[in-house]
Amino acid sequence: MNNENDFPYEFLGKILISAAQIEQRVSELAVQITHDYQASEKLMLLGLLRGSVVLMTDLMRKINRPLTIDFMSVSSYAGSESSGFVRIDSDHKIPIQGWDVILVDDIIDTGYTIQTVSKLLINRNPRSLRICALLDKVARHRVELHVDYLGFEIPDYFVVGYGLDIDEKGRNLPYIASVDLEKYRR
Ligand code: IMP
Ligand code: MG
Repeated sequence: MNNENDFPYEFLGKILISAAQIEQRVSELAVQITHDYQASEKLMLLGLLRGSVVLMTDLMRKINRPLTIDFMSVSSYAGSESSGFVRIDSDHKIPIQGWDVILVDDIIDTGYTIQTVSKLLINRNPRSLRICALLDKVARHRVELHVDYLGFEIPDYFVVGYGLDIDEKGRNLPYIASVDLEKYRR
């Protein structure tokens, strides 16, 4: 058996949120969503690729309502810092008009991604639109936004695991760990 302390990547700092804590919190969010969407026959989870895939697969199996899933792929223009400009690399396939959409992302940092995608989706006339994110670095927000279903607030660390990556590495970790940026750059 793998021990959580045997890090498969050399650049990890420490585990901030364990697999068990995530499991517990995702279950709570699913209970809340199941409750909130009792009256909806058209619930859609719309995940942002690729960071949201692990949350999506866990969350969808815990929601006790009929639902449909779709995905979009988006990226911020240029540089490592998120800019206000978000490019749609791949759009969702199912038209969302009339659907109760929950937009699912891995983490909110500046908030530009969620804000930009939300505005785009609202123009496509969903019946409702709410936001779900596993993590939120509240101290780094640059825009006003409301997260309806949030896993955890975290301090301003760069984190990987449970779908989140650093240069495409670390998505497979079952927990959320901080990246030791000095070790990473070496
Ligand atoms: P925002 O547009 O600044 O809110 O950026 C959100 C996106 O940046 C997320 O969907 C992630 O892809 C990425 N991101 C921000 N912080 C982290 C982090 O600590 N680890 C991994 N990805 C992050
Ligand atoms: Mg992302």
